[in-house]
Order: sequence, then C-alpha cells, then structure tokens
Amino acid sequence: MKVLGILGAQRKDGVTAKMLAAVFQGIATDNTTEVIYLEDFALKADVPGTANPELDLIESKMRESDVWVLAAPTYWGSLSGRLKNLFDCLRQRLVRFDHTGTMHPASFKNKHYISLTNCYTSSFENMICGVTDASLRLCDKVMSAAGVIKIGEAVVTGTWGMETLTPKKKKECLDLGHKINRIRRRDDQTVKRYFELFFMVAVMALITMLLQKACASFIPLDNFWFNYLSFTVIFFILLASMLHFVTFMKHKRH
Ligand SMILES: Cc1cc2nc3c(=O)[nH]c(=O)nc-3n(C[C@H](O)[C@H](O)[C@H](O)COP(=O)(O)O)c2cc1C
Repeated sequence: MKVLGILGAQRKDGVTAKMLAAVFQGIATDNTTEVIYLEDFALKADVPGTANPELDLIESKMRESDVWVLAAPTYWGSLSGRLKNLFDCLRQRLVRFDHTGTMHPASFKNKHYISLTNCYTSSFENMICGVTDASLRLCDKVMSAAGVIKIGEAVVTGTWGMETLTPKKKKECLDLGHKINRIRRRDDQTVKRYFELFFMVAVMALITMLLQKACASFIPLDNFWFNYLSFTVIFFILLASMLHFVTFMKHKRH
C-alpha cells in the first residue's frame, strides 16, 4: 500500500509536520510512504488547452496512493490556504459532473484519508468554540464529494511556542498510522452503518420505554393513543438531541 502525506503548512518543520511524521511512524515498513510539501508547488487551476504539469504531478501521486494524510493548520478559523488551494485546483479532477451539474465521485473513489490540523487556541476554548471544526469539515466535504473514505482525524491545540508533540498527541497520531495498516483496499461501510443504525434505534427505543415507565404515574399508558403519543414525543426528543450532538460535536477538538 502507498501512503501520501500532503503538508499544507507555512512551516516545513512545524507542529503540522510533526503530527504527519508521527502518523508515518506508525505505518508498517512494508508500505511505501511519501510526503509532498505544498509550498514547493506553484499550483494553478486547469485552463483548457494549457499544460498544468505541477497539478498533473500531484494528481499522479494522489492517484498512485491508497491513503492520503491531509495535514494543514487552522488559519483564520479555517483550513490553511495551501491545502484549500489544492482542493480548489483539483476540483474538476476529484469529481465528475453530470448533465445537471451535480457532483459525483470519480476515479479517486474508495481511496482513504486522514485529516490533521492544529491551532494556537487552547484545548478548552476549542472544545467550546470548535475553532478547528471548519478545517476538518472542509476536508470531509471535499473527500466525501470525491468518494474518499475517512480513517480518522487528529487535532493539536495550544501550539503557541510548541516544539514537540506531547506524548499523548504523539500516541494519537501513531495510532492513526496503525489504523492505516489495518484498512482494506476497498471497504463497503454500508453493512456496518445498518448495524450502527439498528443499535442506535434499539438503544433509543429502550430509553424511551424506560422513560415512559418512569412517567407512568401521570401518563395513562394502557390507553393506546397516549402510549403512542408519549413514545413518539420522547423518541423524537432523543433523536433530535443525538443528531444535534453528531452534527456539532463530531470532530475532535482537544
Ligand atoms: C495566517 C495564520 C492564521 C492563523 N489563524 C489562527 C486562528 O484563527 N486560530 C488559531 O487558533 N490559530 C491560528 N493560527 C495559528 C496556527 O494555527 C498555528 O500557528 C499552527 O499550529 C501552526 O502550525 P505549524 O507549526 O505547522 O506552522 C494562525 C496562524 C497563521 C500563520
């Protein structure tokens, strides 16, 4: 398997590069690894009839790889311009457009990716405000449009003056490297997702029924319609809270 690290930071030896190096340390030696530093490339979007050798080179490296490790700091509350620019320039090559202009995954479908980011903001502030969320969300948006499968993500906070990663963060990145070793070339997550959905529905139905029982003194549960209504309302509240949590808190923040 081939793993390509894409470093989109201003510093070649900064925290982002250290996170990337830690992930690569965890990758088994029978895999091939390569890192490209985006500052080394003058990337431009395609212009019909004009050669674009630098973008061709990066595209070919991405095509040859099975896993991409996208490493970019959070700048101005979003993904660093270097990596964003790569995504922008590659748009026409990452996805295919149908006759209505809707995007579909193209030739990169079923490759895998990891996203890494960091910020000066403290762990606590990032937990509350989600400063790094936009960076991770942008990577997810582009990769999902391209049909690329996520392996994981890591965030390092409080990077002001940071020279080395803490042992905890280093281990987190190493573990992501180990995760790369375990992936299959093609994975279909559909069956797994149905199992997860079944499990979630089963747990929520159980909680709903327990809550109904707890309210039995003031809800006449032996009446079919009261039983049905209370079940629906409690189930809806649980489902809405869970969806809110998944939507707003799904990224690592500390
Ligand atoms: C242009 C620029 C914008 C930045 N914006 C933010 C920001 O909005 N929030 C934040 O917490 N840190 C911000 N930072 C700090 C970077 O996230 C921090 O320097 C990062 O950890 C650097 O990674 P590096 O060591 O790999 O260069 C910014 C840094 C730069 C250079």
